Amino acid sequence: MSDIITKTISFVQQTLENAEGGHDWFHIERVWKNAKLISTKEACDLELVELAALLHDIADSKFHGGDEEIGPKTAAAWLRSQNYPQERADRITSIIRAISFKGGKNEHKDHSIEFKVVQDADRLDAIGAIGIARTFNYGGFKNRPLYNPEIPANLNLSKEEYKNNPGPTINHFYEKLLLLKDLMNTATGRRIAQERHEFMETFLSQFFQEWNGEK
Ligand code: ADP
Ligand code: NI
Repeated sequence: MSDIITKTISFVQQTLENAEGGHDWFHIERVWKNAKLISTKEACDLELVELAALLHDIADSKFHGGDEEIGPKTAAAWLRSQNYPQERADRITSIIRAISFKGGKNEHKDHSIEFKVVQDADRLDAIGAIGIARTFNYGGFKNRPLYNPEIPANLNLSKEEYKNNPGPTINHFYEKLLLLKDLMNTATGRRIAQERHEFMETFLSQFFQEWNGEK
């Protein structure tokens, strides 16, 4: 493994030591692995993909008072401290800026293949069994109800509403998780997303049957 990758792994592990369970080092490790897998079928710069995957949640605005620049800034400062070439560092911070879902309202765009690979890798970790676990963990972290039949999901949330949504955790499936399979960029991402999507549908169907005492 190249020196910059090894050092970045240690930096991320240390920085995320006390992170919420769905945004901790193991989330980063899974995204990094997904990204490497997707990369095998795409013509892309693997080092940029790996560094962007490793640094993509280094400082998530959700956990930093909504500051959306803190992530890209922290990543840029780290790469600068390692004398990493500026032009390549800029490509990495552009990926980090553009990656977050924000209810589909992120105004930053990046059209590089490296971005597409890392975004798919991050999205895969938001769905399937792991996605379900992460979502309820985040809901618990925010002290939200699991479900409330009187509070419907809202598919037209503004970016601000999406970020501050106090709704029940089940709504997040309809506001984000179930939308992701149709937003995948790569063939590999789409294939894996399809299977994970079906697993979430099975989960939701069982959840509602149990909720209603039907099973
Ligand atoms: P965003 O959706 O703002 O881009 P992330 O991509 O960091 O944020 O979200 C990662 C994961 O955090 C989601 O897939 C989900 O598991 C959890 N999460 C984020 N927002 C919520 C929410 N409002 N309710 C439940 N889980 C959430
Ligand atoms: Ni992430």
